[in-house]
Amino acid sequence: MHLNPFSYEFHQDPYPTYRWLRDNAPLYHNPDLSFYALSRFRDVVAASQDWRTYSSAEGTLVERLDPRMFEATPMMIFTDPPRHDRLRKLVSSVFTPRRVAELEPFIREVTIRLLEPLAAQGGGDFVKDFSAPLPMEVIFTMLGVPADDRRQLRGWMDQSLDRDRDTPAIPARAIEASMHLMQYWLGLLWSLRRNPNDGLIRGLLEATISDDEGGESKLSDGEIVGFCSLLGAAGNETVTKLLANAAVLLARQPDQYVKLLGAAQAIPNAVEEVLRFWPPSQYQGRTVTRDVEWYGTTVAAGSRILLLTGSATRDEREYADADRFDIERSIPLALGFGQGVHFCLGASLARLESRVALEEFTRRFPRYAIDENRCRRVHMSNVHGFESVPFQVV
Ligand code: HEM
Repeated sequence: MHLNPFSYEFHQDPYPTYRWLRDNAPLYHNPDLSFYALSRFRDVVAASQDWRTYSSAEGTLVERLDPRMFEATPMMIFTDPPRHDRLRKLVSSVFTPRRVAELEPFIREVTIRLLEPLAAQGGGDFVKDFSAPLPMEVIFTMLGVPADDRRQLRGWMDQSLDRDRDTPAIPARAIEASMHLMQYWLGLLWSLRRNPNDGLIRGLLEATISDDEGGESKLSDGEIVGFCSLLGAAGNETVTKLLANAAVLLARQPDQYVKLLGAAQAIPNAVEEVLRFWPPSQYQGRTVTRDVEWYGTTVAAGSRILLLTGSATRDEREYADADRFDIERSIPLALGFGQGVHFCLGASLARLESRVALEEFTRRFPRYAIDENRCRRVHMSNVHGFESVPFQVV
């Protein structure tokens, strides 16, 4: 059996492949695409926590990114400590559970505004009409992106991550969309310098960062664009996928869905179970900085290795009856948000958005159905989920 993260059939259902890997090749090697992969829960957690050996500095995807991009727009997700920690500190105060909790009334207002027309017409497209625009409005408002630009910007983001069948080659349309994004962010920086607003980008324009020698400097435009691209993409793509995954899983299992009706206290754990069962981010790529041994094989320094979150969260060595979707299951560690120094900065925000979204959705749609034949999946390298999920009241 082979693991090809670009196979459209694999995107449809990666879990049989993961099971085979865990049982037969817990250290897997794909010589054609030049990567190794770890698939068991304990191994993925251990490697995620060891940033010295498993570096993010050469990117976290299978496809090797253009080194010129790293230099032009450095992002903390593609750095190791100590530089990583300095960059993260610049924005972390905005994403603490306390600061994020203040956003709840705003998130609820956006949620209700999006759901009301769907309730009136008895359904719609869960992704296009709800789970895509909700996190988009939230993160772009936080960043300070003008309302009129948001849909276009989100469209470019989706397109920049879109991949062709079976190949890691980045398609021309994705490169073109990335160029549009870069130009857009640069233009926005210039305009915010002249006409500041209250968003996070403006804060970054004023921020200073210390260097290795202890000196202080302003962030370069490239560094700010790096933040915009990372926060924009991470804040949008994953929540969109998590919510639609929840909608599909809960429609498949109405016995689980009814447990949420009128039971808001059950929703946070249901969110954690969706994250475990169908994690939107399926792997974190790393580069090994020294020779390491796994299951009797040496992985040479410089090799690319994938930490397969999507497999780890289904590991029966960790979870009893791991392939059963159970919203009441106890989940001590939310591996779907990563582990270690790169643990998802937006986890509190993602949890809040998801909770509010499901609270308001269950209130308006006590019974709904999804025609899975009409659902369409995205084809991205490590983000799994849907781009279209038509649903209707039944
Ligand atoms: C369900 C939603 C989400 C999921 C499943 C998710 C998943 C992840 C994962 C797995 C990582 C670790 C990456 C690695 O180790 O290489 C990560 C990092 C990150 N996430 Fe999220 N994320 C979600 C929502 C968000 C949101 C709403 C934001 C908005 C700010 C965000 C911002 C980030 C950032 C900035 C990082 C990089 C952190 C660092 O390098 O220190 N994420 N996320």
